[in-house]
Amino acid sequence: MKKDIVLNPFIKWAGGKTQLIDEIRLRLPKDIKRYFEPFVGGGAVLFSLKHKKSFINDINSQLINTYNSIKNEAEQLISLVNTFDSVGCNNEYYLFLKNLYNKKVTENVFDVESASLFIWINKHCFNGLYRVNTSGLFNVPYNNKTGINSIDEDNIKNISKFLKKVEISNLDFEIFCKRVRKGDFVYFDSPYVPVSETSYFTSYTRTGFSLDDHKRLAKLFKKLSKKGVYLMLSNNDVELVHELYGDYNIDVIDVKRNINSKADKRTGREVIITNYERF
Ligand SMILES: C[S@@+](CC[C@H](N)C(=O)[O-])C[C@H]1O[C@@H](n2cnc3c(N)ncnc32)[C@H](O)[C@@H]1O
Repeated sequence: MKKDIVLNPFIKWAGGKTQLIDEIRLRLPKDIKRYFEPFVGGGAVLFSLKHKKSFINDINSQLINTYNSIKNEAEQLISLVNTFDSVGCNNEYYLFLKNLYNKKVTENVFDVESASLFIWINKHCFNGLYRVNTSGLFNVPYNNKTGINSIDEDNIKNISKFLKKVEISNLDFEIFCKRVRKGDFVYFDSPYVPVSETSYFTSYTRTGFSLDDHKRLAKLFKKLSKKGVYLMLSNNDVELVHELYGDYNIDVIDVKRNINSKADKRTGREVIITNYERF
């Protein structure tokens, strides 16, 4: 993929790393053999790096189906999203397509239509939030926007080309990381440890990300570090994170938060942790 082609995330995603990209790029290892992203989400880092040997993963099956559809069926996906866009949107239409999407989720259908609905809904739901109820059904209300262009066709085509060489998985992060070897680079961007109880974001998927998961991740970090893997991890600047990663380099960074309904909670501090010195 040519260096000058810009790839942008095709969805808005909670915890999207677009605003942290420069800080992340500043701290990359000098030489990356293979790039692994176990919690890819909207892929802001993946698309910024465009590394030719990339391996991505996320536990959200509909999200991963969307990556696979862009990789293998981009033309059909573009055409379907454009068809959904050709009808002027209102609440009734939004609910109709949301129900269609949820029917597919219930029936475990992973196809290009599910992927197209996934993208369309992301552009038409409140704050681009992906939230599901206990049955795994998407339950975010309409954002009241009309006449939105839900897809940037050139961007999708360029992403499709890039993804042809990317390996895409839908696993738990620990299983996904079993193939990581010495000299590889892994960027971990798990759901964050909450700043306060109320801000805990457990609804990315049906399972959420528990305290045990954070401990499991810290253990994996230690194990991979001993193996000689280059590691980077981002999280909130909270005590637990400092406790779990006290043996490594921790840089604290001021950020603006995107997905939060309360304006007064839109700023915060995050950390970027590495197991190597800055190059
Ligand atoms: C903070 S988001 C990643 C944001 C991403 N870096 C971006 O720029 O959009 C965390 C992601 O972890 C995924 N996830 C949660 N639990 C997981 C698990 N056990 N294994 C793999 N992925 C998981 C969620 O589905 C979500 O997409």
